Amino acid sequence: MISTDYLVIGSGIAGLSFALKMAHKFPDRTVCITTKSDEAESNTKYAQGGVASVSDLGEDSYQKHIADTLIAGDGLCDVTIVDMVVTGGPERVGELMSWGAQFDKGKNGQLELGREGGHSEHRIIHHKDSTGREIELALLNQVRQRHNITMFQHHFAIDLITEHQLYGTKPSTPTCYGAYVLDQKMGKVETFYAKNTVLATGGVGMVYGHTTNPAIATGDGIAMAYRAGAQIQDMEFVQFHPTVLYDGKAGQSFLISEAVRGFGAYLKNKKGHRFMPDYDIRAELAPRDIVSRSIDHELKKFGDPCVFLDCTHLDLKEFKAHFPNIYEECRTRHINIEKDWIPIVPAAHYLCGGIVVDSHGRTTVKNLFACGECSRTGLHGANRLASNSLLEALVYAHNIFGYLEHREIFPASVAIPKWDDTGTQFTKEKILIKHNVDRLQALMQDYVGIVRSTARLQKGIKHLDTIYNEIEELYRTTKVDVALCELRNMINVAHLIIGQCLKRKENKGGFYNIDFEPIRSV
Ligand code: FAD
Ligand code: SIN
Repeated sequence: MISTDYLVIGSGIAGLSFALKMAHKFPDRTVCITTKSDEAESNTKYAQGGVASVSDLGEDSYQKHIADTLIAGDGLCDVTIVDMVVTGGPERVGELMSWGAQFDKGKNGQLELGREGGHSEHRIIHHKDSTGREIELALLNQVRQRHNITMFQHHFAIDLITEHQLYGTKPSTPTCYGAYVLDQKMGKVETFYAKNTVLATGGVGMVYGHTTNPAIATGDGIAMAYRAGAQIQDMEFVQFHPTVLYDGKAGQSFLISEAVRGFGAYLKNKKGHRFMPDYDIRAELAPRDIVSRSIDHELKKFGDPCVFLDCTHLDLKEFKAHFPNIYEECRTRHINIEKDWIPIVPAAHYLCGGIVVDSHGRTTVKNLFACGECSRTGLHGANRLASNSLLEALVYAHNIFGYLEHREIFPASVAIPKWDDTGTQFTKEKILIKHNVDRLQALMQDYVGIVRSTARLQKGIKHLDTIYNEIEELYRTTKVDVALCELRNMINVAHLIIGQCLKRKENKGGFYNIDFEPIRSV
């Protein structure tokens, strides 16, 4: 058994920044980070546009950032939380810079600010078009310098430890004692006993057949928290990013940052018509749900596989300087952005809901905290404002730290049983797992996409039940394996998404059911 003061599950911006703060303040306390892949692999690493935070108090203001967040969230944001996150931003960004993250600056030495959909001002702090990578590497560099942080790479958290494992009971307010974690290299399940556990496991993009998210985004933290009895909310608000490079293939696809539209690119259909002004006065810079739905509408109207992002009128030298990564990716695919339009489609990108937390990041399970994309804080409402996610992760990692720094650490008080896999066997049929992942992703893509209907959602849940029963049976009889656990988690997450979609009787933000009143634009 590994015993620690703080167990952090996940090594993206949320997990790393929490771990750093705690380890720095309490050099005599231990922090363990478990992460299921290489330490840098995360949604964070792929973030392009940047961090939304007010830094130019001349043109911009907290009030404007708050108003933009509330408008994007379509009436479902928690105003107090929005205020807290927005006003907390500058200090957190300053801290990031003190940890070594470098953001682009103009000739005057001030931060150079980008603009994205739904923002009324330029306020996106960025490192060219690879902001997430810059942040992730800076944080990892700091983490390596802390003697009291231990990083467990390729350690997959299977389940949280609660009374269920200890006493076979399910109290109304469970307590978390850590997690069972599979050491993927040794093939052995370790018990991590922790006085406090922080879930920072990121998003769920892989539940869909077409996503901007990397393979790690299988919703493990949300599924584990759900099984442990935590409250999960707002799962119907899956955000689809409007501009994802279209290559006709399923799976993870390359993002063309919203900052490119902020830089002046136009959305056009194959006839060359710039269609966004037909749908919304803010045109290409309308909130993300509106742009994605408008594209979906255009695709259906003409039966086309993609629409296009036209950058041909933009200054090439400036474009290359701002978006070197995007320019290079297009070039390797033989798209010359000076002459060619970039083919794009919307794809699953971000989950606005997740594990319900209060302003200290506390879940409804005792000693269990959550931050970053796996959490539901109330900031995003029905649709996240672009680049508010990295900001939220930083602010909530800080808030959990702020809460825990005033709490005593008590010695271990319970005996935790070892992982019990008696009666299970190694799986002989891996193909069954791959086959069901494909089925699940196709189901979510077809029945739970940008535009939904009650009949399709009902069909979706029926098909899902068949997959669920098959996989639960396999899970009960098989020795744990990452692919199987991930599939099981994705099924739990899909169930939560469809279930919560069926409960929603009104269209809001990213949730659109054709059986209800149409919503703002489109
Ligand atoms: P992640 O960074 O995803 O980290 C999750 C960690 O948990 C990973 O280390 C993973 O391996 C680990 N993990 C997961 N499950 C387990 C398990 N069972 N056991 C152990 N470890 C586990 N947001 C912005 O604000 N601005 C942007 O410009 C922006 N651009 C984006 C571009 C792309 C292509 C994508 C995909 C997202 C973008 N986002 C952006 C969203 C933002 O990047 C994420 O919401 C944010 O990085 C999430 O951080 P996180 O720490 O919560 O999770
Ligand atoms: C992007 O760069 O378009 C992504 C920004 C975000 O998801 O917040």
